[in-house]
Amino acid sequence: MSADRVDRRRLYLAGGICALGAGFGAAWYVTTQPQPPAGSPLPVEVGDLAPGRLRTIEWKGRSVWILRRSADEIAGLAGYESELADPASLHSLQPEACRNPHRSLRPELFVAVGQCTHQGCPPALRSGAGNRSEFLCPCHTSKFDLAGRVFRMGPATANLVVPEYRLEGAGRVVIGES
Ligand code: FES
Repeated sequence: MSADRVDRRRLYLAGGICALGAGFGAAWYVTTQPQPPAGSPLPVEVGDLAPGRLRTIEWKGRSVWILRRSADEIAGLAGYESELADPASLHSLQPEACRNPHRSLRPELFVAVGQCTHQGCPPALRSGAGNRSEFLCPCHTSKFDLAGRVFRMGPATANLVVPEYRLEGAGRVVIGES
């Protein structure tokens, strides 16, 4: 066999391995992304949830957050869109009715799956730059605003997942039902 044919076979083999690796990487990325949970609706009372407070509930084996944003926090959700990876939530998971700047049915109530969209770690609510609250993921420092929109700085590229939910009056959120 000529040296030229051997080189070409090596090239094809290397290309095949790369393609296999890339395919595996893409499949791994898709399957590890948290998907919006569905089924078994869960009513949660939130009438006593004060502005600025976060409630975490367990549903279908996942932590789901309900945050009552204060008027200042709602007003603070604008003005830094260029720092966000997906400011209009075009590549993130949420019900269509929540594809808006506050990513919720009602501006004061934010509902999201409490899992980082990088590898699923639980971000923590903390006070960030300029006293602006944010969710920071401790393992690889992905950062999300109070609408779950991810900043460009970390490895996560999708906003936090917003599950299906509906509101019953002012005091109840039903998770898993639209
Ligand atoms: Fe959150 Fe990696 S799991 S940054």
